[in-house]
Amino acid sequence: MKVPRVKTHILEYNKKNVEICAKEILKGNIIAFPTETVYGLGANALDYGAVNKIFLAKGRPNNNPLIVHISKMEMLEQLCHINKKAMPLIDKFWPGPLTLIFKKKNIIPSNVNCNMESIAIRMPSNKIALDLINESNCPIAAPSANSSGKPSPTKAEHVYEDLKGKIEYIIDGGQSDIGLESTVIDVSNDVFKILRPGKISYEDINKIYPNVSLSEYILKPIEQGIQAESPGMMYKHYSPVANLILFKGNDKNKLIETILIKLNDDKQRSEKSIVLCFEEDIIHFKKYNYYSMGSYYNLDDYANKMFDVLRYADKNSYSKIYAFIPNSNDIGLAILNRMYRASGFNIIEV
Ligand code: TXA
Ligand code: MG
Repeated sequence: MKVPRVKTHILEYNKKNVEICAKEILKGNIIAFPTETVYGLGANALDYGAVNKIFLAKGRPNNNPLIVHISKMEMLEQLCHINKKAMPLIDKFWPGPLTLIFKKKNIIPSNVNCNMESIAIRMPSNKIALDLINESNCPIAAPSANSSGKPSPTKAEHVYEDLKGKIEYIIDGGQSDIGLESTVIDVSNDVFKILRPGKISYEDINKIYPNVSLSEYILKPIEQGIQAESPGMMYKHYSPVANLILFKGNDKNKLIETILIKLNDDKQRSEKSIVLCFEEDIIHFKKYNYYSMGSYYNLDDYANKMFDVLRYADKNSYSKIYAFIPNSNDIGLAILNRMYRASGFNIIEV
């Protein structure tokens, strides 16, 4: 089935525009809206036909389930069987960038969770997202509002680039605060497991649940024939058109030297390449194209810029992107998880 072409409008955030978008949601249409993590492409989560439009607009494989966004606890009870052991997580991190996976109730249309026994739910903290859910007064199913496989959108213009002509409205909430997607934790059984790392880190969760486990696929591709715990991890993801190459190693000088050789070779051959580096290292790359990912000591900036710079590199037709990567502490693990997948695990050990 083809998606009918429509004119796409970017709307500023105000009461009237939230009402317009809530009406669209209740009519069974899809709209894009900001959250504190990335922009989402939303539909009424209780409407099979509306949810189907999300899969069509994104070109999303029909075995990759969606996250349902709620604004109040009554909605949670309506959708799933709450595991009481997860209440400390809800009390501490909701509303916020945390998705929890529970056992589903039968009210969920089968395409929302792709016929799984579980359902992923999140209460966002972004005011526009909460206003939209409250105004629609229904739970909103929403994946990231990018075309499937592309970097997630952290600005309204990214959504426009990918979904122009396929959706009528995008509410503009400016640059996303966090810039990478929520932490996903499976709490449907009594031993909790982190399936996707995010701003809320393994260290944060471990303080509350010392035996929380981490999916073994966070920094590894899923082998052929293995059933993924989180189907989203099966696909090549977040990818720019440019060839993204990551450099890993403990010897900073050697890393700098290796990347300088690559940049210099490219320059000789008139190939357009760029290095994503930490602010502290800019000094070494002044003669080349570089992009600062912020300080090595504040990785929130890296998280916030990551998807935007991958799109920027494509827009400026760079054919190669060389990237320094952080270590795996705190939000570093989420950055590595996205960068490894974006590069197709193209990692050079130095
Ligand atoms: O921050 C976010 O979570 C953003 C904003 C819009 O809320 N949404 C988002 O959705 O990242 P999406 O669809 O791009 O990623 C959802 C991830 C996928 O990897 C999917 O496979 C996984 O969550 N997921 C959804 N339901 C699941 C379930 N029942 N069991 C396991 N994994 C699930
Ligand atoms: Mg996504």
